[in-house]
This record gives sequence, C-alpha cells and structure tokens, in this order.
Amino acid sequence: MEEDNQGGRRAAEWAESYRTGDTPWDLGAPHPELSRRLQGDALAPPQAGARALVPGAGRGHDALALARRGWAVVALDLVGSLGDELGASLAQSGGRFCVGDAMDFDDGPFDLIWDHTFFCAINPSDRAAWGARAGDLLQPGGMYAALVFPFGKPIAEGGPPHGMDSAALRQALGARFEAEEDCSAQRKVRSRRWEERWFLARRLPFQLPTS
Ligand SMILES: C[S@@+](CC[C@H](N)C(=O)[O-])C[C@H]1O[C@@H](n2cnc3c(N)ncnc32)[C@H](O)[C@@H]1O
Repeated sequence: MEEDNQGGRRAAEWAESYRTGDTPWDLGAPHPELSRRLQGDALAPPQAGARALVPGAGRGHDALALARRGWAVVALDLVGSLGDELGASLAQSGGRFCVGDAMDFDDGPFDLIWDHTFFCAINPSDRAAWGARAGDLLQPGGMYAALVFPFGKPIAEGGPPHGMDSAALRQALGARFEAEEDCSAQRKVRSRRWEERWFLARRLPFQLPTS
C-alpha cells in the first residue's frame, strides 16, 4: 500500500482502493469472531438506544451486524462514497454513516467502540492520540472491543496493516481503561497470514494510577 512518509495512508488512497476493488481486508461479511460474540449476551446493548462507534468501518459488514443486534451504530470512515449504500442500511436501524477522521471525531458518548483493522490501519505514531480520543468518546463503563490483527507482524515491516498486539492497545488506551479479555480468537479468518486475537477493555469512571 502507498504510504505517506510516516507510515499512514491518505484518504484519497483508501478511496482509490475501494474504487478499484483492491480491498484485501474486506471479508464480505462480519468478522466470524464478532458474529460469534454477538450471539451471546456479552456484547448485547446494555440498554435500548445504546450507541456503538465503528471507526474505519469500511463497507460496514461489522457495523450492520452490530445494528442487527440492536446497537445504534455510527459507522465512521474517511471515504465518503462508502456511505452511499451503508448509510441507508444503517438508517433503518437508527444508525448512520459519518465521513470523517476518527482522530477528530467528537460525537460521543458511546457505549461501545468496535475496532476491526482500524488500529492497524492508522500510523503507529497516531496510536496514543487515538487511545486518548477513544477514552473521550466512550462513557464510563463503555467497552473498547477489538479484533487484534496482524498479531505477531513485526512493526518494522511497516504497513498498513501495521503489526499490533494487545499491549499496544493497552498502552494507547492508557489508565482510563481496564482490560477484561485478551485471548486468541476462536473463529479466525483462515486466509489471513497473521494471528488474530480478541481484546476487550472497559472505560473506568476514574483513572488508574500509572505506577
Ligand atoms: C483496513 S480497512 C478496514 C475496514 C473495515 N474495518 C473492515 O474490516 O472491512 C481500514 C479502514 O479505515 C479507514 N480509515 C483509515 N484511517 C482512518 C481515520 N483516521 N479515520 C476514519 N477512517 C479511517 C479506511 O478508509 C478504511 O476503510
């Protein structure tokens, strides 16, 4: 993938990938681990109207799965054309598509942030800023759930997708979050070269001491 000089991709480059169909990350369906988890209660909306943010939503397969489970979903992406179909589909369940940069997004509070190949898509130097933004967007008790991929890829290999692990997510989210789950995904995408893990952290009503 083409990058700027700091390892990030510009909106126009993402848009070109969608225009030409060069989207190897797109599963054409929700991630199987998300689908599995949505069958149980752990990822159920805590109350009617509970809001979920999907940053870097892409074509929105995961966003729509969350909406079907009862979440009021905001699917956010840099590429506006993705909203042509996705916006109408989400509107049927009280959700919407927003075009914009997750780093600047300010339409919280949310009860859930679902991150699937978003954290690995941003410039690693932006990770701390995204973690702080996520802490601002989630209300206390809200969940940051992520499909951790590509786990095990050396960061020196570049990206996107940039190598990531749960430790990188924990570090980015910082002391306002407590990790609750960090395990191998039970349902993985077999064609993916790198390992996939499941991570969930909860936004605390206070900040943990850092030492
Ligand atoms: C690897 S794709 C993943 C898409 C989707 N999550 C999926 O699994 O199919 C990364 C997506 O993040 C979007 N993106 C990258 N940086 C972003 C940013 N700063 N704010 C919002 N979206 C961003 C890209 O346009 C792209 O759609």
